[in-house]
Amino acid sequence: MGRKFLPLMGGMEIKDQVILVTGGARGLGFAMLAAFGERGGRLVVCDRAGSAAAAETLRAQGYDATGIDCNVTEESSVVSAFEQIAAQVGPVNIAILNAGILRDGLLIRFNKATGKIKGKMSLEQWQSVIDVNLTGVFLTGREAAAQMAEAGGGLIIPISSVAMHGNPGQSNYSAAKAGVAALTRLWAQELSRFKIRVCGIAPGFIATEMVLKDMNAKALEEWQSRIPIGRLGRPDEIAHTAVFIAENDLMTGVVVEASGGIKI
Ligand SMILES: NC(=O)c1ccc[n+]([C@@H]2O[C@H](COP(=O)([O-])OP(=O)(O)OC[C@H]3O[C@@H](n4cnc5c(N)ncnc54)[C@H](O)[C@@H]3O)[C@@H](O)[C@H]2O)c1
Repeated sequence: MGRKFLPLMGGMEIKDQVILVTGGARGLGFAMLAAFGERGGRLVVCDRAGSAAAAETLRAQGYDATGIDCNVTEESSVVSAFEQIAAQVGPVNIAILNAGILRDGLLIRFNKATGKIKGKMSLEQWQSVIDVNLTGVFLTGREAAAQMAEAGGGLIIPISSVAMHGNPGQSNYSAAKAGVAALTRLWAQELSRFKIRVCGIAPGFIATEMVLKDMNAKALEEWQSRIPIGRLGRPDEIAHTAVFIAENDLMTGVVVEASGGIKI
């Protein structure tokens, strides 16, 4: 006799929901859009450039998709993007706050031969990552929450990273991602009275352009040898995590680590 699995009762139905993904033109963002599109979601790509082209690609795959360019570091750009989405598609039901950049470097670099400091992480290097990865999440999370509160509820999925635990060579990135994890936990409490869930994802090392091109190749090889499952993660595995969070109303106030077991 075959086993029977009961369907999840009362979980969020993805079909016909408006799903916004920042940084959705490629990488994890694009994979998450496709996964939600597969389940009948109405997709909104919000990237700093190329949003319309990415939406076109998604439409060619049979999904309902709209592209609206948005620079998450600029308040006016974010506010205007949310206004356009509400007018063109409808209020956002699920917002995945995924736009992010890397600008790795050590806090200080030391020249052993001279005994002198030969370099420092610049303020610009620090600020550029904080602007996109933390301020960008604040601005887009704030606008998403405002729209969802007026519409009677929703779900925010901020994308953190296992680097939130503190990864050497990533002062800027780790600080931003730890901030994103803190916002996830506190927003879940602040926003529960509006029926808004907030549940984050902290990916480990996933095979996207950010990791394959922007990360130092030697550092990546070293990290890869330390991943217990023995390989990089795949974007569809992170997309599946986002779908799981969406469909399960119990998921709020936590950051789910999807990392193949890597410890930082
Ligand atoms: N790939 C990984 O291993 C990994 C691991 C942990 C966390 N993450 C996080 O996942 C998210 C996506 O990463 P990815 O690997 O897909 O990176 P990616 O570089 O492939 O994609 C990032 C996207 O963000 C967009 N973006 C950058 N700055 C922006 C801005 N100011 N406004 C709007 N969009 C902007 C880019 O144009 C790009 O499309 C990031 O937040 C990243 O920190 C990735």
